[in-house]
Amino acid sequence: MLSKKMHAKLNEQIEIEAYSSNLYLAMASWASENALPGSAKFLYKQAEEERSHMMKIFEYLNRIGEHACVPALKEPPCDYKKIEAMFEQALKHEQSVTQAIHELMDLAVTSKDYASAGFLQWFVDEQVEEEETFRAILDMLKMAGVKEGRNIYLADKEIGKRAEAK
Ligand SMILES: [Fe+2]
Ligand SMILES: [Fe+2]
Repeated sequence: MLSKKMHAKLNEQIEIEAYSSNLYLAMASWASENALPGSAKFLYKQAEEERSHMMKIFEYLNRIGEHACVPALKEPPCDYKKIEAMFEQALKHEQSVTQAIHELMDLAVTSKDYASAGFLQWFVDEQVEEEETFRAILDMLKMAGVKEGRNIYLADKEIGKRAEAK
């Protein structure tokens, strides 16, 4: 049986993952509109992935006989100004998601909820990967000189390749 607190926190995480999906969808839309097809492709894929994260929690709650709630979501920003600023925002977002996952894991461990701790370990590992991905994109944008207005076409193409590797 899940504690009331864990139940509420897992439903909160459903909301965070669903918001993440919409955030990347909004970024994909902005990228597509601003002649960044590689970034758009990557971000559409990222949006799908976040939805699958949400579904994982849904399924976990359902499997253990608990209720999963479909959340109301706030609207993500729709104007991201520049490619680098957008990916900086994405990394910052992932760092906040990592924080939320770690809080969930803390709760699971301290309340001896070993089933949830086991379930959450996948998310802990996934967040290492997510942060690594966005950090690598930012490093590449920096090296390419995108901030100074250089190599945007090539950098965007490179990000598109990452969508295929996913
Ligand atoms: Fe996620
Ligand atoms: Fe993520």
